[in-house]
Amino acid sequence: MVNVGILASGRGSNFEAMLQHQKLGIFAGVNLSVLIYNNPEARVKDTATGSGIASYFVDHSDKDRTDFERQLATILDSHDVQLVCLAGWDRVIGSELFQKYRWRMMNIHPALLPSFGWKGLNARYVHEAALEYGVKLTGCTVFFVDVSVEKGPIILQHPVRVLESEREMFAVRREKAIQSLSERVLIHEHRMYPKAIQLYADKRLGVGEITTHDERSIRTSKAVAIDLSDDWETKWKERQRAFIEWQRKQWTERKKTMNEE
Ligand code: GRF
Repeated sequence: MVNVGILASGRGSNFEAMLQHQKLGIFAGVNLSVLIYNNPEARVKDTATGSGIASYFVDHSDKDRTDFERQLATILDSHDVQLVCLAGWDRVIGSELFQKYRWRMMNIHPALLPSFGWKGLNARYVHEAALEYGVKLTGCTVFFVDVSVEKGPIILQHPVRVLESEREMFAVRREKAIQSLSERVLIHEHRMYPKAIQLYADKRLGVGEITTHDERSIRTSKAVAIDLSDDWETKWKERQRAFIEWQRKQWTERKKTMNEE
């Protein structure tokens, strides 16, 4: 059983998606064991309430990064966490925590990295930047955390086409266009992050080095190899179907409420 610790700072929709995978019995050998949030107002804490998952508030504003991260590590250790998932976590990870969870810490980004992955670009601004740039394709990425921001070996990516209507809307109703694109990407984030967790729990992920060279230099980069043998993907899709049904109902309800408002 792989114990998972989630670090989140805000809305918590990715955490909720993980929780649903647990509730619906889609995960196998995965146990969401602890949530840590660093913002007392974070909506994610309400999602954790009543879920049976332990949750802790750790304030980052009254201590330096080393102390803050030591406190996080103490909590994660006390729940015997093997995999850490950042889900809307607004702090940069320091080298101590990175070393401790090297290739055992994942993050999600609402674009196809390395595009729109620079520092300080959080979800809303990522979609705004993508629309502003005029990309035809965006999406989401799950990756292993490296010491640098939004870099690190990519585990999974899912493409999402930017709609012509969103591009047109962006010129006149900027926020509405950003919201539309971000919601469509989010749907795939919620399917993709649990898949990455299950791949990890099934020991299907391996981080390897790729060395390339020319006359002047040798470069080494890291890449994730995924073992999808034995029809892993087909079986996962089958299992995840219950979540997709749940998700469809949720979005239909939301759209209805939005139209009534
Ligand atoms: C997501 O779009 C995620 O990709 C990014 O931050 C957002 C968090 O959303 N890193 P939520 O808190 O999970 O709803």
